Amino acid sequence: MKKVKKWGASLLTACLMIVMTAGCGGNAAPSGTSNQPAAAGGDSKPSYNFKLAHITPPTHTWHLAAEKFKEELDKRSGGRMKLEIYPSSQLGTEADMVQQIGAGSVDFGLITAAYLSSRSPSFSAWFTPYAFPDLKAANEARHTDVAKKILATLEQQGLVGLDYLFAGQRVMLFKDKEVLKPEDMAGLKLRVTPSPPLQDFYKFAGASTEGLPLPEVYSAVQTGVIDGMDMDLDATITNKYYEVVKYGAVTNHMVWPAVAMVSKGTFDKMPDEDKQIVRDAIAAAADFSATTRAGQEEEFKKTLSDKGMKIYEIDPALFGPIMKEFDQKYGPTNPLIQEFIDTFRK
Ligand code: BEZ
Repeated sequence: MKKVKKWGASLLTACLMIVMTAGCGGNAAPSGTSNQPAAAGGDSKPSYNFKLAHITPPTHTWHLAAEKFKEELDKRSGGRMKLEIYPSSQLGTEADMVQQIGAGSVDFGLITAAYLSSRSPSFSAWFTPYAFPDLKAANEARHTDVAKKILATLEQQGLVGLDYLFAGQRVMLFKDKEVLKPEDMAGLKLRVTPSPPLQDFYKFAGASTEGLPLPEVYSAVQTGVIDGMDMDLDATITNKYYEVVKYGAVTNHMVWPAVAMVSKGTFDKMPDEDKQIVRDAIAAAADFSATTRAGQEEEFKKTLSDKGMKIYEIDPALFGPIMKEFDQKYGPTNPLIQEFIDTFRK
């Protein structure tokens, strides 16, 4: 009997500790367990301690957007939703992060569409060259049927695609050669994100491509292992590539979206009202990301000129044959890519 009483007391203590831990935030440590809404007492609403991971440094637009998401969650939920942000690949590569989000040990991710194109091919659609005249048009494309259908393909992987956040458009950086037309890239070795549609764009121009991860790019161009790279202006500044390349062609040939996603396990447990708060908060962060970034375009170009780079443009019409080759190769591979091309290629 005495033994049973002792066991009962221990069980009660353990239960109390679990409830208190949930209420104080089950995801306090980077290696914490999946987020559980804290037990609601009476008719009080649940509270949450979410984790979000992404690969960029704290100065990049996506991190600023993550901070905005955090602020919006807190404000819209009346303080019930807290968010811890892990930037700069602190939780691993994008493959690691997606695995953790699928398993529910991380709740949210801002994951490049480029990486996702290797898991769900319709994300390649976003790399249709010259699909949008500017960032504003790309940001508006978030609300189209085809953009939403592409997000929905993530459901089969235990992920809920919420929205797209744009970090400018892609530009071309060259170490020593002023490339004025696609043919000038023949024989150059360029770092291009390891995603087939991005790599094909350059191969169609006659360049050879190296799929180096971002942390290896600076030294590769510095030491001459590569002759240049596909990049965005934001990352050109945050990673100081201006120290090792002379020429920057602001081609804006492709957009560069991160996909905001949430663990299906986390999301399915939330009441509809809280799901809507999450959706509205991320939409506000996505608008913030695109408008902030669009407003920085001229400032970023000036910063790079001031650092000594030659910044110039290349007429998009010169890439006409490459656009055609891209559409012909990628459209037939996937109905959503074809729908994307038909919707946006004017
Ligand atoms: C890149 O791989 O080129 C990249 C990734 C994230 C942000 C910016 C650039």
